[in-house]
Amino acid sequence: MGVDHQGPCFLVPGPVRMNDAVLAAMSKPVMTARGPEYRDVMAELNSLLRLAFNLSPSSLERGQESWSGDDGYRIIVVSGSGTAATEMSLANRLCQSDEILVPSNGKFGERVAQIAATFADCTHLKYDWGKSFDLEEIEQYLSTGAFEALAFCHNETSSGITQDAAALADLCKHHDVALLVDAITSVGGLPVHPQAWGAEAIIVGAQKCTAGPSGVSALAISDKWVTESKRRKEDDSANPSYYLDVHAALKKGSDDQTPWTPAINLTIGWVEALRVLSEEGLEERWNRCRTMAVGVRSLFSSLGFEFLADEGHRSDTVTAIMYPDGIDDAWRSRLQNEYQTYVIGAQDHLKGRMFRIGSMGETSIEEMVEGCERMLSCFRDHGLEIPDDVEVSSYFNR
Ligand SMILES: Cc1ncc(COP(=O)(O)O)c(C=O)c1O
Repeated sequence: MGVDHQGPCFLVPGPVRMNDAVLAAMSKPVMTARGPEYRDVMAELNSLLRLAFNLSPSSLERGQESWSGDDGYRIIVVSGSGTAATEMSLANRLCQSDEILVPSNGKFGERVAQIAATFADCTHLKYDWGKSFDLEEIEQYLSTGAFEALAFCHNETSSGITQDAAALADLCKHHDVALLVDAITSVGGLPVHPQAWGAEAIIVGAQKCTAGPSGVSALAISDKWVTESKRRKEDDSANPSYYLDVHAALKKGSDDQTPWTPAINLTIGWVEALRVLSEEGLEERWNRCRTMAVGVRSLFSSLGFEFLADEGHRSDTVTAIMYPDGIDDAWRSRLQNEYQTYVIGAQDHLKGRMFRIGSMGETSIEEMVEGCERMLSCFRDHGLEIPDDVEVSSYFNR
């Protein structure tokens, strides 16, 4: 184990802590949006995003089609949080008469369904939060032949479950249905395989696993996605859109540009964060997130805590842990105020009943161990009987 962690422990599932180089990069003097200096930034950003999305490599240099690769995917950077990129992926790909199936088991899958219902004819299969999708039921729906697309939230941050993307992808391939994936807390933290899955669109938000700033996001779109969305546009059956019209973005990508003024300083910061990811290595980062999540799960289950998500599907970037009887969010406030340790509460109907620990971004294993030690102390302060000799670090085996 390295040097012990000092100072606050920031263990939330995004926005995550940004490192000093990212913060410094964002305070660079302004540059113009269309000049070579900024086009260098976009080229590097596109190339590093291809790495984060686990796509084929591209040049880091301007003028070299950094946004695209020989796997047929293109990167579109969006000035807006992950929801904007999700809207872009659905609004441009579908028209109102297209049928889309959206299974959900948490807040963000439900949001995918809301967005899908805005732009298409959406059937929402709502499972309980944290419960695995019923693949047989999904297959029954898809086998009707009615559906143009299936969209889902891969890593459900609200309930701590990761969906079996490969199984869903197989169903989509078998029934010739487009696959659209909210991977906002997956990309750069969990294995994603857009090409093997045959995903037509996959989305990331900068502020999550890539440890970039909030307010900027990206999607990777396949050639098929582009062809289908162009067809709808030419047919005049497209959903209305202007700012998020992907065809405006497609005209600028080869030139390392965006159609509208980009979020200049945010993207400069994101490049810096993605350089750290690239230096660490994508698989190494997946492994570090996994080591932290496995440690958290084994530690808390050994102490008798329960998890919201089904066993076998628990996420490696966010863990949702139920409060034991008699504990509520007062514990979380105390953890923050007295232990400078930040985790997040639950959303909607689960508010006050559980807490969530993020294991993403640049969080070190030392910080996670220290954070967990402080969580246990704070639970003791709240009257929970937890032995004093729990060897927290022994749960985090690299
Ligand atoms: C899985 C997932 N999808 C969507 C969102 C919404 O993204 P944003 O807040 O960046 O628009 C979040 C945010 O936490 C998320 O975790």
